[in-house]
Amino acid sequence: MSQPQYRTPKGTHDVLPEDHQYMTYIKKAVRHRCRQAGYKRIDTPLFEQKDIFERGIGEHTDIVEKELFLVSSKQKADDEPEFALRPEFTAGICRSYIEHGMQQLPQPVELYAIGQCFRHDRPQKGRYRQFHQFNLEVIGLKDPSIDAQLIHVLTKVFSDLKILDRLTMQINNIGTAENRIAFVEALKDFFIGKEHSLPELDRERLQENPLRVLDSKEEDTQILLKSAPTLEQFLDEESKLYHATLLEYLDALGVVYETNPSLVRGLDYYTQTVFEFWDSETKGQNAVGGGGRYDGLIELLGGKSTPGIGFAGGMERTIWHMKQAGVQAPNKDQVDVFVAQLGSEAKKTCLKLISDLREKGVHTLGALGEASLKSQMRLADKFEVRYALLLGKMEVKNSTIILRDMAAGKQKEIPLAKAIPTVIDLLGGAESLDTYTLKDQFVEIDED
Ligand code: HAM
Repeated sequence: MSQPQYRTPKGTHDVLPEDHQYMTYIKKAVRHRCRQAGYKRIDTPLFEQKDIFERGIGEHTDIVEKELFLVSSKQKADDEPEFALRPEFTAGICRSYIEHGMQQLPQPVELYAIGQCFRHDRPQKGRYRQFHQFNLEVIGLKDPSIDAQLIHVLTKVFSDLKILDRLTMQINNIGTAENRIAFVEALKDFFIGKEHSLPELDRERLQENPLRVLDSKEEDTQILLKSAPTLEQFLDEESKLYHATLLEYLDALGVVYETNPSLVRGLDYYTQTVFEFWDSETKGQNAVGGGGRYDGLIELLGGKSTPGIGFAGGMERTIWHMKQAGVQAPNKDQVDVFVAQLGSEAKKTCLKLISDLREKGVHTLGALGEASLKSQMRLADKFEVRYALLLGKMEVKNSTIILRDMAAGKQKEIPLAKAIPTVIDLLGGAESLDTYTLKDQFVEIDED
């Protein structure tokens, strides 16, 4: 029988160490900018009740209709609800806001999350079944200045990652739910008698989620849409004023944007402000991130009417842009020193030496097997270390150690007791090493 050859499931991938350097870099930028702006981190479960996504994102959106991964268990009781892997964070975070009574906290509540999402989409470049998002939400207050501030934080993150100049921020206001109901009616009326000219997919969309027809990629549909009513014509005065004020605030903050009246987004919960960060070259294809206001979502999920706005960026697409831009994520996994030894006494001494070097923040590896010194040195070469320390039987006897500069190919014998300070000096001093200290003082909690 042939051996099975297991692979990652279609549309998923292993995040290998090289890519983790980028992931860590992005997470750090997001964390840093979020903390500066008062956001706190939240994690919600990878799966939630399916109903939350159906109600929140919308039953007739692609994400819910076609792309949900259902989660079941062999022990599922008949009366247990159905679960689905999260295709995004917003609905789950709003569920959490309601469940934990966060409306009692000072508003707005600013939360951020980083993690995996799942959509059973057709895999292609930049589109995966498991991907990572960084996600920001501001819940509990509504004002154009809040929208502007959120967008500003995002431009800071993209600027820190050195890809802001590859992106164009598209922005629109899609009005209130009432505005959209009126517009959808007008759109449906417009297409009466013209259905036969629409490709089948758009004919279905017209029935189930007419707004989706607006961002159809079909040429026939786009031609018809040129003479169709526009959403802009149905916006109420409040939405228009809201949008104009938001644009003024963005100008004041120096945020560059393009207004785009046909930007609608693929999730049903949006009201008024919507925006996306597009690749300046490929435009709407593979947006790096998108978001908007969702003033009806919390009520829809069973909470008190509470406004909110948020954004999610795709980590894989962000990494792709960073690589295209030639951004090198810092490699913190580099090994500094390799310790080689021969003989049982030497091994004992080296175990302690390796541990002490690591404690000082020197990235240290040691060959603790029985291999010859020569093959240990070959290993040191493969790890591309800067220095090697060699301890043989003679050195143990003399309390010395051999220090080898790998690049220069030079070595010298030094006292064993001097090995650690010498290596630290050569690596640029204690400040440049990888030490971790808990900076914050523990606060004594008064039990009374
Ligand atoms: P979204 O536009 O569906 O919005 O997704 C945001 C970003 O996630 C996309 O722009 C893209 O970068 C990434 N993304 C989405 N699907 C995939 C995929 N299949 N493969 C790779 N990357 C993908 C949301 O998810 C909203 N929850 C954003 C939001 C937060 N709105 C308000 N708050």
